[in-house]
Amino acid sequence: HGVFTYDPGFMATGSCESAITYIDGDAGVLLHRGYPIAQLAEHSDYLETCYLLLYGELPSSEQKANFIETVKNHTMVSESMQKFLEGFRHDAHPMAIMVGLVSALSAFYQDHMDINDPEHREIAAFRLISKMPTLAAMCFKYSKGQPTMYPRNELSYAENFLYMMFATPCEDYKVNPVFANAMDKIFVLHADHEQNASTSTVRLAGSSGANPFACISAGITTLWGPAHGGANEAVLTMLEEIGDVSRIDEFIEKAKDKNDPFRLMGFGHRVYKNFDPRAKVMRETCDQVLAELGQANDPLLKIAKRLEQIALEDPYFVERKLYPNVDFYSGIIMKAIGIPTSMFTVIFAMSRTIGWISHWNEMISGPYKIGRPRQLYVGKTERDYPTEK
Ligand code: CMC
Repeated sequence: HGVFTYDPGFMATGSCESAITYIDGDAGVLLHRGYPIAQLAEHSDYLETCYLLLYGELPSSEQKANFIETVKNHTMVSESMQKFLEGFRHDAHPMAIMVGLVSALSAFYQDHMDINDPEHREIAAFRLISKMPTLAAMCFKYSKGQPTMYPRNELSYAENFLYMMFATPCEDYKVNPVFANAMDKIFVLHADHEQNASTSTVRLAGSSGANPFACISAGITTLWGPAHGGANEAVLTMLEEIGDVSRIDEFIEKAKDKNDPFRLMGFGHRVYKNFDPRAKVMRETCDQVLAELGQANDPLLKIAKRLEQIALEDPYFVERKLYPNVDFYSGIIMKAIGIPTSMFTVIFAMSRTIGWISHWNEMISGPYKIGRPRQLYVGKTERDYPTEK
């Protein structure tokens, strides 16, 4: 059936039809349902973008209010999940815990699980969008040995997340509006990115008929790798390893050396070979957050700014079109806000959940086949089992 093509990395293979997101990597274009990402980042907000991705159109003000209300109805998680969380080691990586918690949602929420019923799929989407920040903040609080803070539904999505992360029962906590705005931008800019590795994983898992929580959990595992969502964490680890502006040249040489596997984290992109339109917005938000904090002299941030400058000028990076990507700036913003590095990819997973669930829903709504790639076999030819040894 069909012609066999060998395409490692799926560089030239279209796996599905989709009406959600359009990317033109050469032109630096990213559109969600036709709307340019920069316009969404400027005029929209995360929950409105979620609505757009899921339903295909921007909501009316009444639809938006209802959507937000429904998201708020689902922010709590079953209290038993707290016990499940406590089974993990305190020093476990929060991504490891998130994979477990999200997968476990299918054990805690067993109603409305008929994937062929559009209403059930919608409820699964709401549950995921609403509960991801709660679960993420639970992981963080657990790693700190602090009590879980329950969601506060009078706050916005981004404010509520920062509240659950940083508030304690002992004192009043006021969410900084510049930080909440920056978080909302991070959520919008990470909401979807068509058939990247994690979204393709969600579709592949979903193509077997697996439940949505299990599929999203599979997406989280794929996102975890440093070549994908783990890049924002890897950026900060790299900046710490460089340690001082005086050592930048040494690391630049390492990055250029073909015998050295080291790469500059947060630079380059599989699809954007000119510029990443998300990075442009993130860069501005990054400057706003640093100005708010008066932290422009932070040593790691100084290294980051210098690296950015070198990569934009050095012929090695210019010729290969290796520009700072969205993860380069989002990592710096989150570090400045006080979010620990180990939570960066969790926040990417939270933001991308709407993209994953929208793609899953799109696939299940239409005709689809189980994903089953072929292979190029390079092993032994048939041989007989040795009966005499
Ligand atoms: N530092 C140094 N050299 C690099 C880098 C880098 N970050 N990225 C690519 N190159 C070189 C690479 O060695 C190759 O050189 P040559 O042609 O001389 O052999 C050339 O640039 C092309 O690289 P490639 O590996 O063919 O490019 P790719 O499209 O397969 O990889 C990438 C894209 C993002 C995996 C890669 O650029 C990379 O590893 N970047 C660092 C990790 C990172 O920041 N990842 C986040 C991606 S954006 C978030 C997301 O969408 O998930």
